[in-house]
Amino acid sequence: MFACVLAAACLALPAAARADAEAGKAKAVVCAACHGPEGHSTNPEYPVLAGQTARYLYLELRDFKAGRRSDPRMSPMAANLSPDDMHDLADYFAAQPPATIAFKADSVKVDAGRKKSEEVLCTMCHLGGFSGQNEIPRIAGQHYQYIVKQLEDFRARRRTNDAGSMTSVTKTLSDSDIENLANYIANIQ
Ligand code: HEC
Ligand code: HEC
Repeated sequence: MFACVLAAACLALPAAARADAEAGKAKAVVCAACHGPEGHSTNPEYPVLAGQTARYLYLELRDFKAGRRSDPRMSPMAANLSPDDMHDLADYFAAQPPATIAFKADSVKVDAGRKKSEEVLCTMCHLGGFSGQNEIPRIAGQHYQYIVKQLEDFRARRRTNDAGSMTSVTKTLSDSDIENLANYIANIQ
């Protein structure tokens, strides 16, 4: 039986997505070793998956499998997933309510990050509060170290599965811009 943690979230899920999420629960057991129980990662090397958009989760799994995005720990995990597995896992993690991460943000950097984010118009795509939509990821409450790594990877073009959006946005960011932005975004609940 699919356990509805948040009644409102359950009602919002169409029946098909609910069935996929239930199938995904069993398939997600192996993911917990790194991404934590229900995708609530406590190790900042591993991104939080709970509450991420289903569309984005699916696309990343597909990209890891196809080699468009690559990581020595994650790529092997996606290698044997079928498209059905990817949909089930994506629906499962998207249905888990996000939780607050343990991160002590620096308030001066949070302010500088908020200003930079307004200047660069990050939320034009990521939406207010960095809550994400469809293929645009939620980043609110993501781990600081993980956000920094992704922004650096886009800037250095080590990660290029973004159809050009992030690789061009990050071109003009300095190291301290990245630090400030990550302080700000990790601190959003
Ligand atoms: C051995 C550790 C490990 C395991 C097990 C693992 N992952 Fe990952 N996963 C990672 C790492 C590390 C990253 C971040 C890679 C990077 O820095 O780009 C990642 C990234 C991801 C992402 C991208 C998230 C984002 O915000 O872009 C998704 C989706 C994902 N994993 C899903 C899964 C699923 C589903 C499973 C189980 C089938 C799984 N992972 C198992 C280590 C792991
Ligand atoms: C033109 C639209 C657009 C803008 C503007 C934009 N982003 Fe993104 N961002 C995306 C898309 C699309 C992705 C997902 C790429 C993919 O599919 O892998 C993404 C991915 C990311 C990720 C990786 C998330 C993860 O879970 O791995 C981070 C971090 C990020 N964006 C931060 C920012 C910040 C900070 C800004 C402003 C400085 C910004 N973005 C501006 C579209 C945008």
